[in-house]
Amino acid sequence: MTEKTIQAHAERPDPEHERDRQCMSRRQFLLAGGAMVTLAAVGLPGELMAAPLHALRASYPKVKIGSLSALKKGAPVNFNYPYPNVRNVLVKLGVRAGGGSGPERDIVAFNQQCPHMGGPLDGTYKDAHQALGPCPLHLTTFDLTRYGMVISGQATASLPQIVLEVQGDDIYAVGVQGLVYGYAAMTAKRA
Ligand code: FES
Repeated sequence: MTEKTIQAHAERPDPEHERDRQCMSRRQFLLAGGAMVTLAAVGLPGELMAAPLHALRASYPKVKIGSLSALKKGAPVNFNYPYPNVRNVLVKLGVRAGGGSGPERDIVAFNQQCPHMGGPLDGTYKDAHQALGPCPLHLTTFDLTRYGMVISGQATASLPQIVLEVQGDDIYAVGVQGLVYGYAAMTAKRA
């Protein structure tokens, strides 16, 4: 498995980013960052399809994070978005995925901070199972084919999914679905 890192993030000065991070409340997450926020319906597989969940989706400035021609199945590419220190992974799963982009709908991107307590998931992609994990802190593993849902472990929330757009050969990050660890938690202190 090969990995490389792309520094892709919105061009924003650090002080402004820090202010966002420290002041972000649930309400502000919906409204801040120049982001247009929508509620996106997320379908579930099988018997759960009858009751779709609604996940928070925040749009951020569109940033190119890769290209179809360079992306190889099972070879994750790290990138930062929407801020310089928010670490994510872009991967071509080889199987159709929820929220997947590209001709086969198998290209997805997820944040790499565990939503349980922020454990680092960097470098834990398992191509045999299209899963990220286990988290080094409490062993949660996430299903990248199903919106980052928990497969097993102590986390109760799905991994935040990076919303992608494909135009020609270019892959862009355009938003975040879910709350990145730390960016919501910081808020409670300020509320
Ligand atoms: S921080 Fe990842 S499972 Fe607890």
